[in-house]
Amino acid sequence: MTISGASKRYDTRSGTVHALDRVSLEVRDGEFLCILGPSGCGKSTLLWSMAGLHGLSSGEIRLGPSKIEAPHPEIAMIFQEANLLPWRNLESNIALPFELKRTKPDRARISRLLQRVGLAGFESKYPRELSGGMQQRASIVRGLAVDPSVLLMDEPFGALDAFTRDEMNLLIQEIWMETGKTIIFITHSIAEALFLADRIVVMSARPGRIQEIVEVDLPRPRPISVQSTPEFIARVNDIKDMIDHRKV
Ligand SMILES: Nc1ncnc2c1ncn2[C@@H]1O[C@H](COP(=O)(O)OP(=O)(O)OP(=O)(O)O)[C@@H](O)[C@H]1O
Ligand SMILES: [Mg+2]
Repeated sequence: MTISGASKRYDTRSGTVHALDRVSLEVRDGEFLCILGPSGCGKSTLLWSMAGLHGLSSGEIRLGPSKIEAPHPEIAMIFQEANLLPWRNLESNIALPFELKRTKPDRARISRLLQRVGLAGFESKYPRELSGGMQQRASIVRGLAVDPSVLLMDEPFGALDAFTRDEMNLLIQEIWMETGKTIIFITHSIAEALFLADRIVVMSARPGRIQEIVEVDLPRPRPISVQSTPEFIARVNDIKDMIDHRKV
């Protein structure tokens, strides 16, 4: 995926908000890219544009030969809230993207994915009958069910407790290693970004610009315990300093 000179201004009644300023970035095929930055720096704005959910003021985003201007079948998005429809059970929530595309759900793939995330047997449950972690696992299955090549995740685990979040981090690392998808993942947690990413894009305060790109060469699979090693903590602090020193 290639982002070239992406800028976005929102026109509101109280004036123009300059959310993104000339962001250019080449996302490598199959990489796990995390985006970190202060609140309001335009991370979601950038991700929504990558999903084709809204347009840029200038610049462009491409996936291979196609310019992203509308939702694209190869790109799936997972939000902070699982966004399951409360009146549909798990199975029919997961079938929704297929209905929107007017295709038949790939039952075999869905059942493999449900098994994979530990939700086999919960197909007939409604969202209110599932924990937050289970709902988020269901939304990952919904995102992967259509077999996209790019998965966009906007603080997907931000609302979960620390223990469930660790579990989800392990799960998404495993799924990424198994499937070779390109994942672009927004987080507020430096530790989460370091744990998951091949590269971390650090953005400046609004208007969002790329401030720094950090390569993370920790061996995989990474165990949760890596986060308590002195090397890991030193890296977290390096990134914290990077952000603090520039007063973002
Ligand atoms: N639809 C909109 N209309 C007007 N302004 C908007 C709109 N969406 C976002 N903004 C503004 O654009 C800026 C960037 O917002 P965005 O949601 O992209 O930030 P973010 O980095 O995702 O923040 P957070 O970490 O809090 O989720 C903010 O100042 C926000 O108020
Ligand atoms: Mg956001």
